[in-house]
Amino acid sequence: MADKVWSGRLPAGMDTGFEAFARSLPADLHLFSHDIAGSLAHLHAIRQAGLVSDAEAERVEAALRDIATAGPEAFPWRDSDEDLHTAIERLVVERVGEAGLRLHTGRSRNDQVATASHLYARQEAAALARACLDLADAVLAQAEAAGDQVVVGMTHLQPAQPVLLAHHLLTYAWMAGRDAERFLAASASASRWSPLGAGALAGTGFPLDTAREAAEMGFLAPYPNSIDAVSDRDYLAELTFAAALATSHLSRLAEELILWSHPSFGRVRLGDAFVTGSSMMPQKRNPDSAELIRAKSAGVIGDLVSLLSLLKALPLAYMRDLQEDKPPVYRAVQAAKESLALMCSVVRTATFLPAEPVYGDLSLATELADHLVAGGVPFRIAHAVVGKLSATAEELGGNFARLTRAEFQEASPLFATGLATLLDPHQAVQRHRVIGGTAPAAVKEQMVSLRELLAELRQREGHAR
Ligand code: ARG
Repeated sequence: MADKVWSGRLPAGMDTGFEAFARSLPADLHLFSHDIAGSLAHLHAIRQAGLVSDAEAERVEAALRDIATAGPEAFPWRDSDEDLHTAIERLVVERVGEAGLRLHTGRSRNDQVATASHLYARQEAAALARACLDLADAVLAQAEAAGDQVVVGMTHLQPAQPVLLAHHLLTYAWMAGRDAERFLAASASASRWSPLGAGALAGTGFPLDTAREAAEMGFLAPYPNSIDAVSDRDYLAELTFAAALATSHLSRLAEELILWSHPSFGRVRLGDAFVTGSSMMPQKRNPDSAELIRAKSAGVIGDLVSLLSLLKALPLAYMRDLQEDKPPVYRAVQAAKESLALMCSVVRTATFLPAEPVYGDLSLATELADHLVAGGVPFRIAHAVVGKLSATAEELGGNFARLTRAEFQEASPLFATGLATLLDPHQAVQRHRVIGGTAPAAVKEQMVSLRELLAELRQREGHAR
């Protein structure tokens, strides 16, 4: 079994069970185009340093480009291919012979795999930022369509205060905007330093222009420390954390869509294409799309924990443990991508139903207390006065309008005026004009800042590609 790049040292070969256990090729396939991009940059560096002739370099380059064009599905990978990096090197050598045997000059798989992982993370993080921005746009469109519709906002899942439906929905657009920012930051982390030139851990003795090589791949500069270059996986942890938080946000939105689509909430109807029926109960419209999105986030959180657990306590520099960084990152990226895309469609096709609170709804209690405060009553006393009124209103069927004028004025003479306005949910939201408040004017301003932020992030995402 003289088929490993290191067979000169260990000619007897590996135990077959160990070989299969150690093989990373299937999980490496996500790195296919990135590994080739790294090899091309490295080839240019060793050519410039005179370590391969121009003629050899051109043949190797043509082979690498050929392999890239064919794509990872085109090749019958061998069980003896230890990983993607050695497998692609094998393909090059099969095509161009000795010239291919020079490609690995001044390079180790340690800086090679780190380079490919950086390029992968940069690309996927930018794509995920884009997906978050698409979701933010979809939510913003629904918020715009909601106009001045009022719903009862909740805390503890109990009726709290009237808010604009748009205001509630926009919260998810802000979350998606922050997620996009986090993915862009992860993309920037991955694009900062190039590992090539670090070799196994100590750098290389060959005079490679690694700064030029870094620039060719779109990095700012080579890693300032070659040991850090081969052992750093922070950029992958950042990407996976961004995915875990983004999918957690999706799970919150999913949960609300599930609750809101229950007839007792009656606040949303999901599109027919995003609900399922029951095998037994003919009337059912089950929100499985939202349920599965809610569930997916659990796996992504697990992936983040796997990655961090893998990295903790690892000695420097490269350890084979680091090979196991790939599956959790790929899984997290894949789940986040799919969940974001599906949620985008679910939001676009959902119909938010008119579910406005009626005149006199108990959620206006804080307005009543604030009215007393405006008349000079200390808030704690006002709270107690309206607390009593709320209890009576609840006994009478849960609406302040059931109380008589006399009952109100007995509670406080300040209720002699303005009661009709106080009990109108639309008037209530109008008063909440503070920055970030739920007054229609404040929500319009909020949408202006949100649109500005999303436009800026779109631009940054365009540059990150
Ligand atoms: N497949 C390996 C990985 O993903 C490549 C590096 C192997 N390096 C080594 N020194 N054995 O980490």
